[in-house]
Amino acid sequence: MKTRITELFGIEHPIIQGGMHFVGLAEMAAAVSNAGGLGIITGLTQRTPEKLAAEIAKCRGMTNKPFGVNLTFLPAITPPDYPGYIQAILDGGVKVVETAGNNPQKWLPALKEASVKVIHKCTSVRHSLKAESIGCDAVSVDGFECGGHPGEDDVGNWVLLPRAAEELKIPFVASGGVANGAQLVAALAMGADGINMGTRFMATKEAPIHDHVKEAIVAASELDTRLIMRSLRNTERVLNNAAVGRLLEKEKELGANLKFEDIIAEVGGVYPKIMQDGDMDAGAWSCGMVVGLIHDIPTCKELIDTIMADAHAIISQRLRAFEAA
Ligand SMILES: Cc1cc2nc3c(=O)[nH]c(=O)nc-3n(C[C@H](O)[C@H](O)[C@H](O)COP(=O)(O)O)c2cc1C
Repeated sequence: MKTRITELFGIEHPIIQGGMHFVGLAEMAAAVSNAGGLGIITGLTQRTPEKLAAEIAKCRGMTNKPFGVNLTFLPAITPPDYPGYIQAILDGGVKVVETAGNNPQKWLPALKEASVKVIHKCTSVRHSLKAESIGCDAVSVDGFECGGHPGEDDVGNWVLLPRAAEELKIPFVASGGVANGAQLVAALAMGADGINMGTRFMATKEAPIHDHVKEAIVAASELDTRLIMRSLRNTERVLNNAAVGRLLEKEKELGANLKFEDIIAEVGGVYPKIMQDGDMDAGAWSCGMVVGLIHDIPTCKELIDTIMADAHAIISQRLRAFEAA
C-alpha cells in the first residue's frame, strides 16, 4: 500500500510502532521494520547517549530497513542529555525521529540539516497545527484511547482524526486504540495516511518483554485500563493492577493536594521490574484500551501481514460491495 507516510519514511506498509519505554529496544524495532513497518527505538530507555548509540548499532545489525528513534521530552529537574541523544541519532545515521511530550522546535534545525524526518506525537488538533507550523514532517495523532499519555482534552479518535484531517496539510497517522485491518481502513477513510500502534506490538513474539506482560495484555478487556495522575495534569492510561489500585486510593484521599512524591512508589523506576522481571504488580505501566482487541501473540510479520491482508480485503470486497449495490 502506498500512502504519504510510506513515501515519507520509505517503508512498505503504513504501520508504525510507537516508542515505548523498556519495550522499544533494538529487537522490537528491527522486527517491525523487517516486517515492512517502521520500528522505533525508545531513546530514553537507554540511560546515556553512548548506550543509545550502541542500541542503534545493534538494530542496524538486525535490519537493513529504515527504523526510527523516539525522543520524549519530559519535564525534569535534571533533563536528560538531549544534545547527546541527538548526536547519537545523527552519528547512527537514523533518518526518522518520533518526538513526543513537548514542543521539539529547539531540536529541529540539527535534525533537518541531516535530512532526518520528524514525526511529532500530539493529542490535540492545536498541538498538531503547532507541529506543522514549526516544520515537523508528519504527526502521530494520539486519541483518548491510547496507552500512555492521552493529554487532558479527552477527545477520542472518532472525532480527533477527522478534525485533524480538516486542519492539517502534513500527513498524520492514527494512534491509540488501533490493532487491526478494519481500523487501518477506517483511519485511512478519516484522512490519516497510516497507523501507529503501541500496546498491540507488545503482544508479539519478538517484543523483548517478559511473557507475563504479554499474557496480561491478552487476558485484559477494554474495561481494564485506568487513568492516573489526572490531578497532576500528567494523565496516563495504564493497565489496572494492585499498585494502580493503591495509587488511585491515594488520589481519592489527597485530591488536589496530591504530589508526585506521594505516588513515587507506584510510578518511579518500575518499568524494568515489570517489563524485564515480569513482576506484574510492581507499579503502573502504560497500556491502551485496545487490550480488548488483542487475543493472540503473533510474530510482528504475522501481525502486519494480517492487518494488511484484512485491510485490502475490506477495501476490495466489503466496501466495494456497498458501491455496487
Ligand atoms: C508500555 C508503553 C510505553 C510507552 N512509552 C512511551 C514513551 O516512552 N514515549 C512516547 O512517546 N510514547 C510512549 N508510549 C505511547 C506509544 O508510543 C503510543 O503512542 C501508544 O501506545 C498508542 O496507543 P495504543 O497503545 O492504544 O496503540 C508508550 C506506550 C506503552 C503502551
